[in-house]
Amino acid sequence: MKILVTGGAGFIGSNFIRLILGKYPDDEIINLDKLTYAGNLDNLRDVESDERYRFVKGDICDEKIVNEVMPQVDAVVNFAAESHVDRSIGGPADFIQTDVFGTYVLLEAARRHEVGRYLQISTDEVYGSIREGSFTETDRLEPSSPYSASKAGGDMQVMAYHTTYGLPTLITRSSNNFGPYQYPEKIFPLFITNALEGKKLPLYGDGTNVRDWIYVTDNCEGIDLVLHKGQIGEIYNIGGGNERDNRTITGMILEELRKDENMIERVADRLGHDFRYSIDCTKAQQLGWAPSHNFEDALKETVEWYVNNRWWWEKIKSGEFEQYYREHYGK
Ligand code: NAD
Ligand code: TYD
Repeated sequence: MKILVTGGAGFIGSNFIRLILGKYPDDEIINLDKLTYAGNLDNLRDVESDERYRFVKGDICDEKIVNEVMPQVDAVVNFAAESHVDRSIGGPADFIQTDVFGTYVLLEAARRHEVGRYLQISTDEVYGSIREGSFTETDRLEPSSPYSASKAGGDMQVMAYHTTYGLPTLITRSSNNFGPYQYPEKIFPLFITNALEGKKLPLYGDGTNVRDWIYVTDNCEGIDLVLHKGQIGEIYNIGGGNERDNRTITGMILEELRKDENMIERVADRLGHDFRYSIDCTKAQQLGWAPSHNFEDALKETVEWYVNNRWWWEKIKSGEFEQYYREHYGK
């Protein structure tokens, strides 16, 4: 299979590319990525010389480039998105552009070139917050942030393209991922690297908000399964089954690093902060998916990865990284 992976230079996309190239000797991948602040070719250093992998710098909103690559592939997996809630609160425009309009551009090209399978990578955040119980795939969408609203808009376009044009679409909605190569603005890498740098860990509000955490490769295995075996037109929730509040996560990170709790700094809460995310993953399990990582072990491994890979995150945090990309890619 030849797969167009969009947003493959980001956190989950790069882990997915590594998984596919390792698992399927005959698969080929084109990685179309705009290299926003979150796109980082360092994430793919170990696969960049693989003959089955090709990087194309480009925007999913650019119809020309999308229509150039689309005829070359059998399937699309769309990871490309603006993905950080706090940035969406600061300015939603880029989110609406990439997550909604960009999805439309990909769908339209996939339709024109009769692509075999189109898989949209979505999020549990489209359902909104839930105090008790868990959302299933048929629950209504009640997004709270400009980010989740944009992702919901993308999902709606995908569903409309299936219903209206018969495009062979699939959607996965995963819970919060953690693992190697996550941009240090999200809670796991931010708190780990801040602790290593002796900086405070800014915990929003009272720290009781709950997320369901999934190790990134478990999500990638689920995405792979849905891409190959998922039923066309369907949506699959993919969650780790590890609900923890932010105080607990923070405490576990500090304990792993043998740092003191006084590194925590209570800061003003995020606007519209969703209290709890929880999804029912029975449908993905019935397809044959199950996460293989134990949460405590995966957290330890993740902390170790950031301890051992300062080369990766120090240049991001120092600003050297953005400067390098401006010089080399003209941003
Ligand atoms: P990320 O921010 O690390 O990476 C996003 C990637 O998309 C970057 O490489 C960026 O350069 C690229 N990109 C952004 N705009 C683009 C555009 N217009 N054209 C081409 N490329 C563009 O994000 P991530 O955490 O890897 O998330 C990947 C996908 O998974 C997103 O769609 C996100 O909504 C979804 N998701 C993420 C999580 C999570 O916990 N990280 C959970 C559920 C769903
Ligand atoms: P985040 O990693 O931004 O993921 P999302 O908002 O998509 O779930 O945040 C995870 C949780 O951690 C969320 O409840 C907000 C909280 N958080 C903090 O308390 N401090 C921080 O600096 C960040 C980035 C997040």
